[in-house]
Amino acid sequence: MGIEVIVEGLTKSFGNQTVWQNVTLTLPPGEVSVMLGPSGTGKTVFLKSLIGLLKPEEGRVMVDGVDMVGGRERDIYETRKLFGLMFQDGALFGSMNLFDNIAFPLREHTRKKESEIRRIVMERMEMVGLLGAQGKLPGEISGGMRKRAGLARALVLDPQIILCDEPDSGLDPVRTSYISQQLIDLNAQIDATMLIVTHNLDIAATVPDNMGMLFRRELVAFGPREVLLTSDEPVVRQFLGGRKEGPIGMAEEKDEATLAAEQFIALDDTPPRIVPQLQPSPGLPPRQAVQRRRARVLAMWDQLPVAARTAIKAGLAPVQEEHA
Ligand SMILES: Nc1ncnc2c1ncn2[C@@H]1O[C@H](COP(=O)(O)OP(=O)(O)OP(=O)(O)O)[C@@H](O)[C@H]1O
Ligand SMILES: [Mg+2]
Repeated sequence: MGIEVIVEGLTKSFGNQTVWQNVTLTLPPGEVSVMLGPSGTGKTVFLKSLIGLLKPEEGRVMVDGVDMVGGRERDIYETRKLFGLMFQDGALFGSMNLFDNIAFPLREHTRKKESEIRRIVMERMEMVGLLGAQGKLPGEISGGMRKRAGLARALVLDPQIILCDEPDSGLDPVRTSYISQQLIDLNAQIDATMLIVTHNLDIAATVPDNMGMLFRRELVAFGPREVLLTSDEPVVRQFLGGRKEGPIGMAEEKDEATLAAEQFIALDDTPPRIVPQLQPSPGLPPRQAVQRRRARVLAMWDQLPVAARTAIKAGLAPVQEEHA
């Protein structure tokens, strides 16, 4: 089962620029979470802080008893092996074919025999639908295939925590749905704790159990996906509605005058429609996180906003109601 990641009071700056401050959240074991946020709000910096590649000035990130911020470097290095990382740009080596790219972490971090490496690489390539492409160079395949190769490489060390930085960037809508399904299938197969950073509204609507959003140097919210999907927080509504009107501007934040002018534009207040979460493909086991999440959400029932409760109830309703 995946490992829980506990983030407490995390603050990160570069020089005198604070990227975000006092970020506190827990990634529940084996569940899939999404972090949203406009460009430049520090999502990638957040992922790098979770694995100890960047050092926030304050707070801690507890993984399997190790603080990835202030712990001993040797412990951090060992704990990092529990993570699988899929980078924003794929980060494949251009001169290596896909097989060697995907085998790289195994050759680097383990003493496995070549035959064993071959078995693992082929298995992961099959998982992401890349069998047959092992001899191709990254420059010879499509962006979608490169993404999947990056995912396969993130999987070779059997990670218990998977971090994906914008798995959809550069993909068309169809490829994006494929990768969404692949992430859910992966979760059903290995029950790893997953955090996906994305701007993509389809992924946000269909993939995660939990959702959070970074904006203006703060974590706006983090919780069961229904909480954000029904939130009346203007910045969340604007982002999830993909609208121009609202607090988010081209330079991330709008000035007061623009905001004041927009007070006169009627925002549509039709409640957001919540689409069902993706299910694992036929033939795969059910996601083990589903039962755990259900118990977790029921335990926090009293703290949830009414709109979120209504949405959760609708989601838990027996299937026949959907046909009624
Ligand atoms: N190593 C660094 N040194 C200095 N500043 C940095 C460094 N890495 C990131 N930043 C700054 O931190 C801020 C957040 O960057 P980050 O890449 O995390 O944004 P993001 O939310 O991932 O954006 P996008 O959605 O465009 O990928 C930016 O202002 C960026 O310039
Ligand atoms: Mg980024």
